[in-house]
Amino acid sequence: MISPSNPVGLTGIEFTEFCGPSLESLDALFLSFGFSKLRRHPSKAISYYRQNDIHFLLNGERAGHSAQFARRHGPSISAMGWRVENAAAALAAAVARGAVAVPEAMKDHPYPAVWGIGESLIYFIEPNPAGASIYERDFVALDAPVIQPDKGFLTVDHLTNNVPPGEQDKWAAFYKGIFGFTEVRYFDIQGAKTGLTSFALRSPDGSFCIPINQPKDDKDQIAEYLREYKGPGVQHLAFLTNDILGSLDQLQGSGIETLEIDEDYYAEVFDRVQGVREDHARIQQHQVLVDGDEQGYLLQIFTKNIIGPIFIEIIQRSNNLGFGEGNFGALFRSLEKDQERRGVI
Ligand SMILES: [Fe+2]
Repeated sequence: MISPSNPVGLTGIEFTEFCGPSLESLDALFLSFGFSKLRRHPSKAISYYRQNDIHFLLNGERAGHSAQFARRHGPSISAMGWRVENAAAALAAAVARGAVAVPEAMKDHPYPAVWGIGESLIYFIEPNPAGASIYERDFVALDAPVIQPDKGFLTVDHLTNNVPPGEQDKWAAFYKGIFGFTEVRYFDIQGAKTGLTSFALRSPDGSFCIPINQPKDDKDQIAEYLREYKGPGVQHLAFLTNDILGSLDQLQGSGIETLEIDEDYYAEVFDRVQGVREDHARIQQHQVLVDGDEQGYLLQIFTKNIIGPIFIEIIQRSNNLGFGEGNFGALFRSLEKDQERRGVI
């Protein structure tokens, strides 16, 4: 419902749109993650992939917004679709609160949109009264769809933005002031040599979060992302699963690599986080990270960078709404080691 606390009537994430100079590697990546390639735009080079309630568009247009975005950023996330009750009302409310509407000629899709992080687009997608999704209504079936076995990824749990020094407050104000996100956590993370600060914001309907990372110096992993991506943008998407070990079993052989964790991590983690019901040996074998408190826990794992500097997180939650704060130190050390190997720090 549109209300003072949910001014655009946000109800969730509808889709994430990707682009890049070459689409083959993104296509292969989505299929490896268990997305099925199902439909295509009737007149544009845009394909639709789906797994449960995660919807991806792969935009291969050679003119227009995504094409420009791909030329500037390489493999990247050029747009998202956010579900709202009424797209026109959402646009009007967003613009009244300071968002900038995207002109018709600059959009690849007919849905109303405003400018988001790093000149990516946020489209507003309303439910179709006839019940059909935008994919059923605005796309056509592929003659030869590629159906992949589902790997248990259910929805986008959160997506994280990286922003340059000094812009964290500006972007937090953007999500809070225009869309009614609320700040749920603040982190100050210090590695051995570098560090970052992060605000986590939750959407007013509670369906997803956007943490915003800002680097503390010009050498850390956020700064490195900003150089490679040529500006602020999505650092990672987190896929929610109810069975992370099963999902990882199914990803074996896919070539998708995950971050290496310190050997001593598992010596103490099950003392730090009690009550983890999943098989501890399999958690260690898959290098899954564990975090939690008295109420519950989460299991998570991070891929290496796989879409330009963007990576994917896989997360399973058991009565815990955090982001794995207890793992940030271990993760940061892992990334610093990798940066050291590459001579960045
Ligand atoms: Fe995350």
